[in-house]
Amino acid sequence: MAMEFDSLLNARRSIREFSKKPVSEDDVMKVLEAATLAPSSGNLQPWEFILITSDEDKKKLREFCEESDKEWLDRVDEATRKKLSKKKEISLDFLTDAPCIILCFGKKNKEQWRESVWMAIALMTLKAADMELGTIIYTPPRSSAVNELFNISHHLSLAAVCPIGVPAKVPKARPRTPVAEKTKTVEQISSEHRLTREFTRRTDDPILSFMKRIPVLSYLSDVNREELRRRFFIKKFDKGEAILNRGEPGTYYYIIANGLVEVLIDDGMGNEKVVSVLSSGECFGEMSILSGEPTSAAIRAGTQVFCLALKSTDFLNLVEEYPSINVAITKLIATRLRKTNLSLVEATVLQGITGRLSMISLSELCQALSVNQRSGILEMSHIDDSGAKIEGSIFFSQGQVTNAVLPDVSGDEAFYTMLAWPDGEFIFRQEEVEPDFKVSADTMGLLMEGMRRMDEAQIKDEV
Ligand SMILES: Cc1cc2nc3c(=O)[nH]c(=O)nc-3n(C[C@H](O)[C@H](O)[C@H](O)COP(=O)(O)O)c2cc1C
Repeated sequence: MAMEFDSLLNARRSIREFSKKPVSEDDVMKVLEAATLAPSSGNLQPWEFILITSDEDKKKLREFCEESDKEWLDRVDEATRKKLSKKKEISLDFLTDAPCIILCFGKKNKEQWRESVWMAIALMTLKAADMELGTIIYTPPRSSAVNELFNISHHLSLAAVCPIGVPAKVPKARPRTPVAEKTKTVEQISSEHRLTREFTRRTDDPILSFMKRIPVLSYLSDVNREELRRRFFIKKFDKGEAILNRGEPGTYYYIIANGLVEVLIDDGMGNEKVVSVLSSGECFGEMSILSGEPTSAAIRAGTQVFCLALKSTDFLNLVEEYPSINVAITKLIATRLRKTNLSLVEATVLQGITGRLSMISLSELCQALSVNQRSGILEMSHIDDSGAKIEGSIFFSQGQVTNAVLPDVSGDEAFYTMLAWPDGEFIFRQEEVEPDFKVSADTMGLLMEGMRRMDEAQIKDEV
């Protein structure tokens, strides 16, 4: 019995070349049955599998993945690009050759869904090998866009795309590091300095402490902050070193941990002009990631600089997956835009003009008013489902929401109601407002709680 299992472990390979032979629905279900027997946190079984079998859908998926892999490849550094371009993995033939593609999703609202889904995927690959079927785990860079491609609710998050079929070619075993090199006793760990440092970093992580000190990131839940932290790595730049060159595609989002950076623009006569200096806790690099356009301003280290860097794909995934990280990052961006004086939102707010909520959301308005420490009344109106016009007001003193008022409710509840209005009109009237607080949290706290309620309502709608 043990021997059989060992041979199975040794026989399993990632299969990238599939024959066109069909695989019965029964066989696919047997493989998925093995996946559903996987252990899961609290036995919550947070997995859902969606099968793709039509040529049309496989082609649609392949075209999307090729495009998204290409975008990703354009953004990685030159050395990685060269290395990857030579690799066989770059071909996505398996997405159209395999008779069935299993999209493996996790339910985002379940504890430790990611870990549990991967346990299921592991068992699935073994069961397939046991049935002499091939599988490959493919992880597209912008996984959440696959939801949109097939109209799949965002309360499911794609972990992996797993083609399954009869192998056309079984590749040679890939080398593995001997188990002895990957395994240490506790005594061996403490005798190796590098490992001791690794270990202490986990319990007393200076990056995590730094993130807690940045006001907007301090609002994140511990889980979300740690999720964000796991994707950050540290980059160091010497004084005068170029961090971003104008015209290059955006590859990283940066938060400055230590030091100063200069934002430079071309003054039109070929000279570079420093328009702003950013310091610890401020961010840059997101504009071209979000727009897909080349970087418009150059960034240079004004002193020795340490930055927390987030890869563009991680940045996009996090912003899409976590509304509260999205709010935190938007707030950081708003802070920076205020300094560099480029903000459309800010211009709108400062001039007190009327606008539509479909263009600028209440969340963005609140953040801009908060960053600019404005006092005044934001008057809002919205047409509800029955066609009735509802009017409300939000009061700001020095950028903080003091009260929100609707015809039948005021305070926090009125604020959350208005935050959920998808459309409507607003006007900001600048005036002195007494700091007489009728809400239970500061502006950022209200926004976070409002977003949390909206997420919860959306998940309820979708379930
Ligand atoms: C989390 C995870 C992500 C992976 N993503 C990809 C992928 O995007 N493309 C790919 O060709 N292989 C992917 N693989 C397969 C690995 O490249 C493969 O397992 C590894 O090279 C070892 O080869 P073997 O599975 O044949 O032993 C992934 C595997 C895992 C566990």
